[in-house]
Amino acid sequence: MSFSHIGQSIAQSPTLKLNETAALLRAKGEPVIHLGGGEPKSKPPLDALIAGAALLNSGEVRYTPADGIPALKKAIIRYTEEFYGHSVEPANVIASGGAKQAIMVALQAILNPQEEVLYPAPYWVSYPEMAKLCGGVGVPVLPEDGSFYPKIGDLEQKIGAHTRAVIINSPNNPSGAMYSAEFIADVVRLCEQRDLWLIMDDIYHRLIFDGRRPISAYQFAKKKGEDSKLVIVNGVSKQYAMTGFRIGWAVGPRKLIEIMTNIQSHQTSGPSAVCQHAALGALAGVQSSVESLRVTLENARNVLVARLQTFPGVKVCKPDGTFYCFADFRAYGASSAKLAHFLLEKVRVLVMPGIEFGLEGHLRISFCGTIKDVTEGVERMKWALDPQAPNELYLGDRKLIRDW
Ligand SMILES: Cc1ncc(COP(=O)(O)O)c(C=O)c1O
Repeated sequence: MSFSHIGQSIAQSPTLKLNETAALLRAKGEPVIHLGGGEPKSKPPLDALIAGAALLNSGEVRYTPADGIPALKKAIIRYTEEFYGHSVEPANVIASGGAKQAIMVALQAILNPQEEVLYPAPYWVSYPEMAKLCGGVGVPVLPEDGSFYPKIGDLEQKIGAHTRAVIINSPNNPSGAMYSAEFIADVVRLCEQRDLWLIMDDIYHRLIFDGRRPISAYQFAKKKGEDSKLVIVNGVSKQYAMTGFRIGWAVGPRKLIEIMTNIQSHQTSGPSAVCQHAALGALAGVQSSVESLRVTLENARNVLVARLQTFPGVKVCKPDGTFYCFADFRAYGASSAKLAHFLLEKVRVLVMPGIEFGLEGHLRISFCGTIKDVTEGVERMKWALDPQAPNELYLGDRKLIRDW
């Protein structure tokens, strides 16, 4: 059998594998605690559910324009005005099947084979694979000072003759780091000077803590019209807990949006009509669910960080936003994949290995679950890793005895 080089170059994600193992264990009745997830557990806003259901009830569920229904594009324009202080036209907006598709289609519109896209490390697992799917090359940029906060010089050093684009995801999955306004301003300036596309993956921009405010890259742009190479990506998945609806969007210069629309029209056509109406309901409706999710996450972050700080040898950088904490577990072994498997096998706690996100020795621990899951999960991890801990631990009514 023969398969494409690109197809074969896309590895099965060990994250998915861990998820599958955890699901199998759960199906067998094992008390697995899932601290590996990437979705809030709250319900979507009522306005979203009602709007989606209303379209379903009408029975008029048809194809939509490839770039999304006009009403949703209008809501995205209002969102861009409110959160980015930037006015755009419908021709500057495309609605896609999640922020994921928006980024993928943007890269397909931008990259030629062998061309490079840069992104700070640690990075979201999909960026390198998306670059590969375009025949391009993903180039991670590790901050030289060992922090989660890159300096402009780190990025500058990696720009070469083949560089076409930069992706900035702030706050960042997996580190939770929100980059400073100065850094974003520097990146905007650098990309304008070097004529590079800048894709801002802002999917977590409202889920930020300690009084921080979302940052708009537009405020630093000198080029704001059709000569701009700034692309803003966002969506309803995280902020409105609507991961299953699969609606995201991109805002950018008309020519790029036109090419993205052409690509999307042959790839998937417009996103699901029902989901677009639900997303419109979320964007146009009561916004209180976003703040309530944000506050819940901030509390969970505080609980998680306080507990992790009691682990001897573990280094924790307090997340500024998102629902992930990327802790340095090198004191417990060099291989994060081995450590994640060990924790799942021994104490049934699922966390994600840092190697997947481009930084070995770390574990990504999600705090989007319940506080009970967070506290119990971390307690189990501590027991598994602390040689001084008592020899026995109860998981519900099941007694675990240390055999390692
Ligand atoms: C950094 C980042 N960007 C984009 C996405 C994709 O979001 P969506 O569900 O809108 O496709 C995710 C989802 O995990 C993410 O973590």
